[in-house]
Amino acid sequence: MKRILILGSSSEVAIALAYQLAEKSCELILAARNCERLAALKSDMEIRFGVKVSLAEFNALYPETHNSFYESLEAKPDTVICVFGYLGDQLRAMAHWEESHAIVMSNYVGAVSILNVIANDFEKRKEGIIVGISSVAGERGRQSNYLYGSAKAGFTAYLSGLRNRLFKSGVQVLTVKPGFMQTRMLDGMKTPKFLTAQPDKAAALIIRAIHRRKDLIYILPVWRWVMLIIRNIPEFVFKRLKL
Ligand SMILES: NC(=O)c1ccc[n+]([C@@H]2O[C@H](COP(=O)([O-])OP(=O)(O)OC[C@H]3O[C@@H](n4cnc5c(N)ncnc54)[C@H](OP(=O)(O)O)[C@@H]3O)[C@@H](O)[C@H]2O)c1
Repeated sequence: MKRILILGSSSEVAIALAYQLAEKSCELILAARNCERLAALKSDMEIRFGVKVSLAEFNALYPETHNSFYESLEAKPDTVICVFGYLGDQLRAMAHWEESHAIVMSNYVGAVSILNVIANDFEKRKEGIIVGISSVAGERGRQSNYLYGSAKAGFTAYLSGLRNRLFKSGVQVLTVKPGFMQTRMLDGMKTPKFLTAQPDKAAALIIRAIHRRKDLIYILPVWRWVMLIIRNIPEFVFKRLKL
């Protein structure tokens, strides 16, 4: 990893990733909407670690801009970490299409759109690493967040297909499935400590998984077992649960 593009750089996990990668002397391209918010972080990382950090405007909601976004990058990355996502409001989304649309666009369509462009470039160059942050929510639809969950399910399947396609080109595709992470996304939610990862730890585990050339990781291993149980609850029982 030398030049790393982080999509959704204002997330706390993305910021933790950026600091840990800058410390390892990686050059960074931080992409976010309203990225002037990241100007102070950029200077801090440049001064602290002596690395080049550039900022680029990116919005997942506008797929028609994604090709020109990628084309406009001065130097192409060798690693892309797709961090952006939007939990949204399930109740609101059930009543208002705009909210459903934002959830599906931010977690699935927008990711597919930008990663299609990047995958074609990496395939041609026969190198590269693509990391996608999906979610355990994609493993089984639940009434409390099936709009977000279904978009993440699509994203997980997309990454799996991409990995299968790009293997022969030497491109690594890593799927990351967090359970809970203590970030803005969980503001106001109380989650059990043993199921909740801190952004710094999540970032360190993602970097370790890249170095180990993993295909898929759960951020906290306990989630593998939690989801094994959840996936195996028979449907006639599952549909009666209030989850
Ligand atoms: N936190 C959890 O418990 C948890 C669990 C499972 C999976 N995840 C996934 O982990 C990833 C990181 O999330 P987080 O926990 O760090 O949450 P977060 O702090 O809410 O970060 C979400 C990031 O996505 C960006 N984003 C949202 N919509 C976007 C759009 N249309 N275009 C560009 N960027 C957009 C946000 O940018 P703005 O600052 O501009 O809004 C923000 O940087 C997400 O993919 C999330 O779905 C999180």
